[in-house]
Amino acid sequence: MSTPGTPGYAAQTAPPPAAGLDRPMQGRVALVAGASKGIGAATAEAFADAGAAVVLAARDAAALESVAQKIRARGGRATAIRADVSDADSVRSLVESALDTYGRLDAAFNNATDGPMPAPLAEIDPAEFDRGIATNVRGTFLGMKYQISAMLQSGGGTIVNMASRAGVIGVAGLAAYVAGKAGIIGLTKVAALDYADQGIRVNVVAPGTILTHHLEAAGPEAQRQAALASPMHRIGSPSEVAQAVIWLSSPASAYISGAVIPIDGGQSAGLKPPRMYRQGQPLPPA
Ligand SMILES: NC(=O)c1ccc[n+]([C@@H]2O[C@H](COP(=O)([O-])OP(=O)(O)OC[C@H]3O[C@@H](n4cnc5c(N)ncnc54)[C@H](OP(=O)(O)O)[C@@H]3O)[C@@H](O)[C@H]2O)c1
Repeated sequence: MSTPGTPGYAAQTAPPPAAGLDRPMQGRVALVAGASKGIGAATAEAFADAGAAVVLAARDAAALESVAQKIRARGGRATAIRADVSDADSVRSLVESALDTYGRLDAAFNNATDGPMPAPLAEIDPAEFDRGIATNVRGTFLGMKYQISAMLQSGGGTIVNMASRAGVIGVAGLAAYVAGKAGIIGLTKVAALDYADQGIRVNVVAPGTILTHHLEAAGPEAQRQAALASPMHRIGSPSEVAQAVIWLSSPASAYISGAVIPIDGGQSAGLKPPRMYRQGQPLPPA
């Protein structure tokens, strides 16, 4: 059996391909599923800024095209393809289109989600529950299935899946979402193990509250409460998630696979009570 320092061990370690620090995805091809708005759109733009040609996918073709046009206007390469991540033929054809357009696939970000509105578990419609699982669990499975086949043809690649803090802990009223995101974390670990020795890394991000159109629509009080729940007392931005995804997709993270990366201002570290009482003493004034 080979150990670190022996020739057999060294033969298994591949140096990451050279890439500039400012353009770590230069010359690569990245696919973002769920790229029509929010975090997915910001990450597609970040991939392009990092030097990648980007394939953007979602159901809303007009919204996708406007993100792609923004990338092209900045001198990047981008192609918008309408796709439904829960449909096997659609996902297979999406990956084939990426290969037809750019000749290879190096990175993928599976970011799409859909599902029921928040409600106590017994009040959730079974068909709505199925929609949440179909987008998150089946969608991530299908995405990886076809992306991995394409990446094996290109000599390897990286996949980042989108979970949530709500895939690591329970959140009241979000049965389908929590089950779906926990399923994504499980799928990520299996894929990372299945392909670790074939040049494919698979990781998953678990953001806390991020300011996208959902929280913008909820208004300032919802934003204030979300900020207070984070130890940093602020909400995260789509670009903060995007930068973590780029790093996980780049050679800078070459020895990281199967990881669940929190992007939550420290929330997953534990509890930070606003004021701490001391044994036998009344709570000090605020
Ligand atoms: N915002 C947060 O606070 C937060 C926190 C943790 C995790 N997340 C996760 O981050 C991701 C992005 O969330 P977001 O807040 O930016 O906005 P979002 O509107 O929830 O983004 C979802 C994306 O998925 C696409 N999508 C939905 N169903 C699809 C399907 N069947 N096939 C293809 N694409 C589909 C949507 O586009 P179309 O409607 O055009 O298809 C959209 O681009 C989600 O996975 C979410 O769970 C968000």
